[in-house]
Amino acid sequence: MADTNSALTHFEDVFSGDTYETDFTAFPVEDQILDPQYDYDSVDITRDDWEQRHGSMWKYRELLPITDTDNIVSLGEGETPLISADRLAERAGVDRLLLKDEGQNPTNTFKDRGASASISGAVQQGIDEVALATAGNAGQAASAYAARAGLDCHVFMNHQAGDIQKQMTDAHGAQLHLVDGKLPEAGSAFMEDLEANDRYSVATFHTPFRHEGKKTMGFELFEQLDWTTPDHVVYPTGGGVGLVGIWKAYQELLELGWLDEDAMPALHVAQSSGNAPIVRALDEKTDAHTVWENPNSIARGVEVPDPGASPWLIDIVTESGGTGVQVSDDTAIEAARDSARLAGVEVCVNPGVALAGAMKLGADGVFDESDEVVVLNTGAGCKTAHHLSSL
Ligand SMILES: Cc1ncc(COP(=O)(O)O)c(C=O)c1O
Repeated sequence: MADTNSALTHFEDVFSGDTYETDFTAFPVEDQILDPQYDYDSVDITRDDWEQRHGSMWKYRELLPITDTDNIVSLGEGETPLISADRLAERAGVDRLLLKDEGQNPTNTFKDRGASASISGAVQQGIDEVALATAGNAGQAASAYAARAGLDCHVFMNHQAGDIQKQMTDAHGAQLHLVDGKLPEAGSAFMEDLEANDRYSVATFHTPFRHEGKKTMGFELFEQLDWTTPDHVVYPTGGGVGLVGIWKAYQELLELGWLDEDAMPALHVAQSSGNAPIVRALDEKTDAHTVWENPNSIARGVEVPDPGASPWLIDIVTESGGTGVQVSDDTAIEAARDSARLAGVEVCVNPGVALAGAMKLGADGVFDESDEVVVLNTGAGCKTAHHLSSL
């Protein structure tokens, strides 16, 4: 047993401001998102410490909510490359376009960061059974980390999820509950089961841990860009866990005094035109989304018609000077193929939405020629290879 020196102090409800002790386990509560809070004055680390540590995202442990190293459940997630894509930059009309290649994580998506943090959180809370609803990738990731920790895992997956996600969830020994319909139907079946069986939810924003794992993407971007920030970050948005994580990382860098307020990047939400509730809310300048009727996109990870965190996401994007952009499935596929052909980087259709979104923002004049743009490649091309290949 060793102390992580985590500066965690308590959890705070993003909407009501109510505070909770760190051993609070009664999640989820309707319309509540608990966000870990830290005592930044107590954080005793330097940039050199960060540069010298390697192995996983837990190198940022002082700013993560796990207090004992024995509770960390890791498969070496994080430390993913930031890959410069010159020909894609040219197409977007900017000086530099970089792909943060989250496909190189253990189960090939950025979901591993959230799973590592939320399963570690479950272990810290003394839980032995977890559950979640998922479009696919988060279920695969949670089942891998639950297996590593020896926890039972129940995954409620929409039946349209890909074969890889279903098969690997099963291979990790999780209980796979396939639900007819889309994510909302899987979500309803999951909530019914949760109430009946009193399982611990690691679903989107149901624990204070999952978005904390995603925060490490922002820390890595800062480190990889030589302690600077890009001008723009384009993120393929479903529930928005990663967007919150990246934003929170930059807020904490401000707290540490490592960043100036005017250096914050603009955070842009990219969604599919078959399901774009956050983009619509941003366009219409409303404080929250309205549910998207009849969601219809092949990009299942971002096909979230009712993202509960929308007021928080809208605030974040607006405060950062970002915007929303929607693109068709065909454009997303084309962008994913362009990435494979022009940059050699394999991206699945969800980050294809972000890359196509970046091209659209470029064409619409949102970027300056001298800008540096980061696009999150949240998942590897193999996850949706059947959409990318003409074979
Ligand atoms: C590959 C991929 N990209 C993006 C997303 C959207 O993630 P978030 O919930 O952080 O918006 C998902 C969610 O399933 C995904 O699997």
